[in-house]
Amino acid sequence: PDVRPMVAGNWKMNGLRSALDQIKAIADGLDGPLSQKVDAVLCPPATLLYVATALAEDSPLKIGAQDCHHHNSGAYTGDVSAEMIADLFATHVIVGHSERRKDHAESDELVLAKAQAALGVGLQAIICVGETQAERDAGQTLDVLARQIAGSVPEGASAGNTIIAYEPVWAIGTGLTPTAADIAVAHDFLRSRLHERVGSEAAQMRILYGGSVKPSNAREILGIAHVDGVLVGGASLKAEDFLAIYKTYE
Ligand code: G3H
Repeated sequence: PDVRPMVAGNWKMNGLRSALDQIKAIADGLDGPLSQKVDAVLCPPATLLYVATALAEDSPLKIGAQDCHHHNSGAYTGDVSAEMIADLFATHVIVGHSERRKDHAESDELVLAKAQAALGVGLQAIICVGETQAERDAGQTLDVLARQIAGSVPEGASAGNTIIAYEPVWAIGTGLTPTAADIAVAHDFLRSRLHERVGSEAAQMRILYGGSVKPSNAREILGIAHVDGVLVGGASLKAEDFLAIYKTYE
């Protein structure tokens, strides 16, 4: 099926005002025919969201947040809601990143509620799943992925409002990546589990790979079956590298 690919960047807790020139460079670098067929999303820290959406206004670049609260407003000191993110003209939000699942003890139930909050205000949710090294060593990779898809993808999710990111936790920021065969197995499995969860929408739903993606390995990874794009951490901080990964689709 004809799935529209996506290259997404996650800046994590990086990015001061001095990094705005990188956002501008990414926005300007996307012009051209490639943007007709490949989506590009950048998720800077919440502090830069408003100015980032302004910088990206006349470009194909979409701006997303890295997390959201599961309620739209209320007494939740320090939190940012999906409604607030949408209000800043951002269009996407990452939920369930492994750093949130681990460092903030986020459960599948909470990730599901966050994804529902995102869809409720018209944001596209980028839902992250992936096994830890220990789970992999114990041969539990597919069990973990099955549990996370069943537990954190909303039933009403569609290809238009939900993106899945497969990020093996041990591959994040380590320079390690699974073999192409392992990625293919995981993505094929995720597609079949998504089918059980959301039905025929699963065929068109983007499944991104994330974990140590860089310009030098992007071509191989993007060529794997059922890999519909990438979620890039460290390499997305430099416009040059983000654009090089994006242009792999040329
Ligand atoms: O969300 C992005 C991922 O956690 C990947 O990070 O590209 O720095 O390994 P990385």
